[in-house]
Amino acid sequence: MNSQRNRRQDWHFVDDTGTFMLENPHRTSYLYFPLVNEAGLMSAITPLLHGDIKTSQNTFLMPPVSVEDLHNSRSARNFWVFVDGIGAWSAAGNSAAQKARNLADDDAEQVRLEAGFLWHKVIRENPQIGLRADITSFVPTSDDQVELMKVTLTNISGLPLRITPVPAIPLYGRSADNLRDHRHVTSLLHRIKMHTHGVLVRPTFSFDERGHGPNSVTYGVLGFEAGGSPPVGFFPILEEFIGEGGNLECPEAVFKSPETGYPAGESFEGFEAIGALRFEVTVLEPGEAKSYVVLMAIMQEGVEARALVETYGGEAQFDAWLQRNQDHWEHKLETLTFHTRSSRFNRWMKWVQIQPILRRLYGNSFLPYHDYGRGGRGWRDLWQDSLVLLMMEPEDVGQLLFSYYAGVRIDGSNATIIGARPGEFKADRNNIPRVWMDHGTWPFLATQLYVDQSGDLPFLLREQAYFKDSFVNRAQAIDETWAPEQGTQFRTTAGEIYWGTILEHILVQHLTAFFNVGQHNNIKLEGADWNDGLDMATEQGESVAFTALYASNIQRLSQLVLALERLGITEVQLAAELMPLLDTLTVPVDYESVVAKQKRLADYFASCQHTLSGTRINVSLRDLSRDLLDKANWLCARLRTHEWIRDRQGLAWFNGYYDNHGQRVEGDHPNGARMTLTGQVFTLMGGIATDEQAQEIVRAADRYLFDPKVGGYRLNTNFGEVLPNLGRCFGFAFGHKENGAMFSHMAVMYAYALYRRGFVKEGYRVLDGIFQHSQDYPVSRMYPGIPEYINSKGRGMYPYLTGSASWYLLTMLTEVFGVKGHLGDLILEPKLVQEQFDATGEARVSTLFAGRRLNVVYHNPSRLDYGQYKIKEILINGISGRVEYGKRSAAITRDVIANLAEKQPHHINVTLG
Ligand code: G1P
Repeated sequence: MNSQRNRRQDWHFVDDTGTFMLENPHRTSYLYFPLVNEAGLMSAITPLLHGDIKTSQNTFLMPPVSVEDLHNSRSARNFWVFVDGIGAWSAAGNSAAQKARNLADDDAEQVRLEAGFLWHKVIRENPQIGLRADITSFVPTSDDQVELMKVTLTNISGLPLRITPVPAIPLYGRSADNLRDHRHVTSLLHRIKMHTHGVLVRPTFSFDERGHGPNSVTYGVLGFEAGGSPPVGFFPILEEFIGEGGNLECPEAVFKSPETGYPAGESFEGFEAIGALRFEVTVLEPGEAKSYVVLMAIMQEGVEARALVETYGGEAQFDAWLQRNQDHWEHKLETLTFHTRSSRFNRWMKWVQIQPILRRLYGNSFLPYHDYGRGGRGWRDLWQDSLVLLMMEPEDVGQLLFSYYAGVRIDGSNATIIGARPGEFKADRNNIPRVWMDHGTWPFLATQLYVDQSGDLPFLLREQAYFKDSFVNRAQAIDETWAPEQGTQFRTTAGEIYWGTILEHILVQHLTAFFNVGQHNNIKLEGADWNDGLDMATEQGESVAFTALYASNIQRLSQLVLALERLGITEVQLAAELMPLLDTLTVPVDYESVVAKQKRLADYFASCQHTLSGTRINVSLRDLSRDLLDKANWLCARLRTHEWIRDRQGLAWFNGYYDNHGQRVEGDHPNGARMTLTGQVFTLMGGIATDEQAQEIVRAADRYLFDPKVGGYRLNTNFGEVLPNLGRCFGFAFGHKENGAMFSHMAVMYAYALYRRGFVKEGYRVLDGIFQHSQDYPVSRMYPGIPEYINSKGRGMYPYLTGSASWYLLTMLTEVFGVKGHLGDLILEPKLVQEQFDATGEARVSTLFAGRRLNVVYHNPSRLDYGQYKIKEILINGISGRVEYGKRSAAITRDVIANLAEKQPHHINVTLG
C-alpha cells in the first residue's frame, strides 16, 4: 500500500461479484456493514470493528449501538497484540493512540477495507511496529447464531517479534432495554464461566420490558489458534481487564500484565463481562504469519459450546465456511443481473439487490441508524419488499403473500407489525392504536404483480382469515367484548373462524377507504400515510396523494376481477355485510356527499364490530367490476379537477394533502410555493394525471423539487415553518429525512411513474441521479448501495434497510428493461436510453420467469435512442418462436417459456431497430 493509494478517497470494485476496496475507511465516520444469516444472527461492523451483534431486541451479545456510538463508545470488537520491547498494538485500530491519529492524514498506519457478499476484511499495516493484520469477519450461512473473525498477523519487519495476542470482545449479554434501564442491576445476574476456549455468560434472569423471567440464552466468545488450540488465559471481568482508571482503548491487562489471566474452569458471578482471551506467547519470524479465529455466539437453550468448537474451531473450518458463505450469496444474487454500459453501475446494482433481502432479515430495527422499533417487520415494507423478492426468491412468495393477508382487519385496517413466523401479528410495536391510511394499497400492488408474474389467478380465490383484536372502526373504537383468549382470528356469530377470499380482503381494504372521506371528499389521512412523519392531522387531514393510489388500484382491480372469468367462473362469494359498500349493486350512495359516504361506512362498521353473520352472497364478476369502475372513474375525475392547482408562476401540479384545519397544503404561500413529490407520484403512476397534466407536473417538479446537490428530487419544498397541524416531519430541519430530503423511496417511485407514463428520459434522469450521488463516495460517504435519503450535506443516510432498493430493482427490471408479466405471459417493452447500451450496442438482464432463468439481450446495432427503436425480431435460444409483436412491445405466452428446460439459462435475443 503506497502513500498515493493511501490518499485515494473512493471505493472501487475489484471484480464482477461486487467485491470492493476502500483505502482509509476509518477516516469516514458512520460507515457500517451488515453481516447476517437466516438463522437470525444480525451484526453490524465498522472499519474499526465497532458495531454490535444480536438476535433480537432482548438478546444483544455486544452492547447495542446507535450511529453516534460507533465513534464515541469504546466497546468494539478488539484484537490486541502485545509486542515485547514495543508494547500493545490494536490490530483493529482501537487503541487510544491510534484513534488520536485518525484525524491526521499521516502514513503511520495504512488501512484498507475489502468487502463482498457478505464478508468484511480490514487490513492494517504498521511498519513501525512491524506488523500487518488481516481481519476477516462474516456470519456463516449455517443454523448457528454466530459471527466469526479471523485475524492473521504477519511480521513485516526484519526482526523476530515476540507477541501475545489478546482478542477482547465486550459481552453485554442482555436486552437493549437494559442500556439505560438497570444496566448495573442486570450485570448482577451474570454467571460467567471459563470454557476451555473462551468466556461464557449466562444471566440467571432476563429483566426487560417483558418482565422478569428465567433466562435460557448463553453468550460466548471462543478463541482458537489456526490448528484449533485454545487460548491459555482469560480476563472475563470487564473492570479487571481495563483496570482502575483504564478503559477499553488502554486496558490495564494488556498494557501491564499481558501474560496473566485466569485458567479455564473458573467461574464468576455478578460483573460486567468481556470475552478477553490470551493466546500463547509466540515468536513471529520476519515474513512469518499466524492466524487466530474468534467466534462470537448467542446460544439458545440446548446449543453446546462444544458443538460450536467442533464446527468452527480452527482456520480450515473458518476458510471453508467463508467459501460457503460467498457461494451462497453469489448464487442468490445471480438470479437478477443487469448489464449496461457502466460496469460500476452494474456492480453497484448487486448491492442494491441484496438490500431487500437484508430488510427481510433485519426488519427495520437492527442496524445503527435504525435504532427504533423492537424487531418485526412493518406492514407496508413487508409488501413492497415482496415485490422484488418475487423476482429473486420466487419459490415461497405466493405462500408468503397469502399468509400476510391474515393481518387484514374486517374494517380495512391491519396489524402493523409482522413477526418472523407466519401468523405472528401485532397491532403496533408499541401497542398504540394507529392506522396508516396507505396500508390498504400495498397488498394489492404486490398481489397484482404476483398474479402478473405467475399467472396464478386462483390465488385471488384462496380463503384466508381476518385479523381480530380489540381495535374496531379503524381504531376509532374498542370492542369491549373481545378478549385475547378469543385469539386473533375474526369469527362468525356462530363462533367459527370466518374465511374470506383474498379478493374479498382486497375489496375490504379498498371499499372501506373509498367511503372513509374527510370534508374535501378525499380519503382521510388518519394516523399518517406513506410518510410516517405526517402524523398530526388525524381529525381533519386528508391524503390526496393516496386517494390517487386507491383510485388507480380500484380501477386495476375492476379489470383483474374480469380476468377471473378465465377460470371458468362468473361469480364470487362475498360476505353479506360487504354488499352495502358495493352500493351501485344495492342502495347507491351519492358520492358527492361526504356525509352519505361516512354514514354508509359507519353502518358497515356497526355490522361487523365483533363478528360477521357468516352469510355469503354471490356477486357476478361483471357487476363487481362495474361497481369498482364507477368508483374509480368518479375518483379520477374528481381528483383531476378539484385537486389540480396552479400557482402565481403559472406552474401546475396536484395538491397532495389537507391539514388538520382542513386547509389545502400545497400551492402559493407567503413562505414560497409549497409542493410535495408524493402528491405527484400516484396521480402520474395510475394515469390520473392526463398527458398534459403529466407534462406540467414534470415542469413544476423540475422547478421546485430538483436539486443536483442531493442527487435529485426532494420530497417537498421548504415550507419554512413547523406545522403542528400536519406532522412531526415539519419539526425536522428542512433537507432531512421526511422533510424535504432527497428521499430515495419516493424519488424512485417518481421514476417508476415517469417510465410508466412514457417519460423515459425524465425517469432515467431520476434513477441515474440517485446512482451518481450514492456512488460519489467523497460526498455520500457510504458503501455501494442506495440510502434511505441524502441529507442536506449530501451524506447517504440509513443505508441498507430501505424500500427504495425494491422499487429501484422493480423499475430497472419491469420498466427500464421492460421485462414483466401480464397474467402469466411474458412482456418485453424496453425503455432503455441510448447511453445505457454498451460499446457493442447491447444491454442485458438475466432474471427468473416462470421458474426459468432468462437472459434477455437487447441488441441495438444502430445505437438508437428510446423513441427511435422498435422491437424488430426476437429469438428464443436462436429460434424465432411464437411471439406477438406490438407497437413498442412484444408478448410471449407463458407456455412458450414454461416449455423450456428447467435448470439451464435460456437466451432471448431481441433486436431493436
Ligand atoms: C421509511 C419506511 C417506510 C416509510 C418511509 C417514509 O422508508 O421504511 O415505510 O414509508 O420511511 O416515512 P424506507 O427506509 O423504506 O425508504
